[in-house]
Amino acid sequence: MACCFEVVFALPSPLVEIPKNMAKVGLDRAKSAEAERLVSAGRADDDDAFELKLRPTRLAEFIGQEKAKEQLAIALEAAKNRGEALDHVLLFGPPGLGKTTLATIIANELGVGFQQTSGPALQIQGDLTAILTNLRERQVLFLDEIHRLQHVLEEKLYTALEDYKLDIMIGTGPSARTHVMEIKPFTFVGATTRPGMLSSPLRGRFGILLRLEFYTDDELRFVVERSAEVMGVPIDRDGAAEIAMRSRGTPRIANRLLRRVRDYAQVRAQGVIDRPTAQAALAMLEVDAHGFDELDRRLLRTIIEKYDGGPVGLNTLAAALAEEQDALEEVYEPFLIQIGFLDRTPRGRVATRLAYEHLGIEMPRRTSLF
Ligand SMILES: Nc1ncnc2c1ncn2[C@@H]1O[C@H](COP(=O)(O)OP(=O)(O)O)[C@@H](O)[C@H]1O
Ligand SMILES: [Mg+2]
Repeated sequence: MACCFEVVFALPSPLVEIPKNMAKVGLDRAKSAEAERLVSAGRADDDDAFELKLRPTRLAEFIGQEKAKEQLAIALEAAKNRGEALDHVLLFGPPGLGKTTLATIIANELGVGFQQTSGPALQIQGDLTAILTNLRERQVLFLDEIHRLQHVLEEKLYTALEDYKLDIMIGTGPSARTHVMEIKPFTFVGATTRPGMLSSPLRGRFGILLRLEFYTDDELRFVVERSAEVMGVPIDRDGAAEIAMRSRGTPRIANRLLRRVRDYAQVRAQGVIDRPTAQAALAMLEVDAHGFDELDRRLLRTIIEKYDGGPVGLNTLAAALAEEQDALEEVYEPFLIQIGFLDRTPRGRVATRLAYEHLGIEMPRRTSLF
């Protein structure tokens, strides 16, 4: 199995180069602040080792996402039967739903090597060229955060994805010439939380598009039970259901809450997680029945109290909350919209009746001009 997990970064230090685009720096900072939240779907620093242990390695262990799984299973089988590289795959959906996990599963199911890099890690053409020319036959190349790939590099990728060829410039000035290099047929797996930001030529190069959805409470209960088993933590069905319910439809959050509830159970309840223990632990952690934390409540409360329930523009809202616009849009809003607490309208964000009810605020009658 070790052979299948060859994690390669483009350069020794592409992540520490000073990004040219300051907006990206802002986003990175927002992401790290946001990662400190217990119920945020973004990855926190100490998640890495833990997630690796809990990450399903085969498609059969991957819970939920039935539509995506079926589509993928058929494509995998067909590619294996033909003895060809699998078509390129685009995985998209909010953070923490299993994009990276599925990418590694694809390599495992194909029995091929796995290389990983990300849009922001690739800074110069040489990075991409080095990765592409070193690929082995039918291998999986996983590019996370593909929406943050620089435009010039994206264009380089087109021919590589389409004809397994790469144009390389040799020399500079008048004596420069292009040389076409063959690369091995490979499977490109891109992941993004923002599919709308991809250009249509790039999107068009993916044969398999898999959208990951928020998980149901039942599916998340399975995730919690499976993780508890891997961790050797005793948990009953109700305890797992309680954690699942408060995990915002997101396995990453379910696993993180499980870890914290386990600590509480060890100290206060002889290590066993049942419903009362889970409830007491989550109350102590200030994660409410919907998995909301202080920021979710502040977001809804701000729309309701400061902007009469909306509509309010995203940039105004971000400024009022002193949060990054990207982080609000990518991480916080999708779940609030999914459960019907927030509406995205052309004129801005609107708090729904459910949001008023949840916060115990009476909803004013809206007078309409039409
Ligand atoms: N379908 C699933 N079944 C079980 N665990 C899952 C599933 N999807 C995600 N996870 C867990 O959630 C964690 C986060 O998933 P990940 O693939 O890193 O999400 P993403 O790349 O979409 O942000 C993984 O470590 C894994 O343990
Ligand atoms: Mg990921």
